[in-house]
Amino acid sequence: MAVEKLNLAVLISGNGSNLQALIDACTLLDFPARVAVVISNRPGAYGLERAAKAGIPAITLDHKSYTGRSDFEDALQSALSDYPVDLICLAGFMRILTADFINRWPNKIINTHPALLPKFGGKGMYGEHVHTAVLAAGERISGCSIHYVIPEVDQGPVILQKTVPVEDGDSIETLAARVIAQEHIAYPEAVRMIAEKRA
Ligand code: GRF
Repeated sequence: MAVEKLNLAVLISGNGSNLQALIDACTLLDFPARVAVVISNRPGAYGLERAAKAGIPAITLDHKSYTGRSDFEDALQSALSDYPVDLICLAGFMRILTADFINRWPNKIINTHPALLPKFGGKGMYGEHVHTAVLAAGERISGCSIHYVIPEVDQGPVILQKTVPVEDGDSIETLAARVIAQEHIAYPEAVRMIAEKRA
């Protein structure tokens, strides 16, 4: 029996390794989702190439060419409306979305965060800043959180977390590498949970 597929829009800003994990999962026949469109707010983001290679429509909406946040988000909304989108997956997307936009997609936007929320979340906690804070706090365990997006940054309900040890002598890079490997497993798993209404 054919699996009913959830249509994903994946929003990126850079490398797109989490996008790749989703693309790879979607090649499995029994995976209940497909990537309908990839949108980057940064021109030249490597993730756009990953999408193109997989034959997925890849769109650039350079936030710098819009006069403000709401202008940018109107363009985003309009781009999304050209595709059958059931779920928006933020995957290394480095723009904070406004409440107006988020409220247009209730329970339909999820994000991956490279730490164990509710700790080490919020504005300013992105990229290497997160791992810097985890190391500075002397945590022995870190990990990743896939969570619903609500207007309060990084405070939406957690769908799934995976943990990793923080090892003696870890640098930002070694910790980040350990965490992102778990994000690549967790993100497709969370999408599956949502598709199967287990989230
Ligand atoms: C991930 O660790 C994500 O949690 C963080 O930025 C990284 C994005 O990596 N916000 P990629 O673009 O998916 O490779």
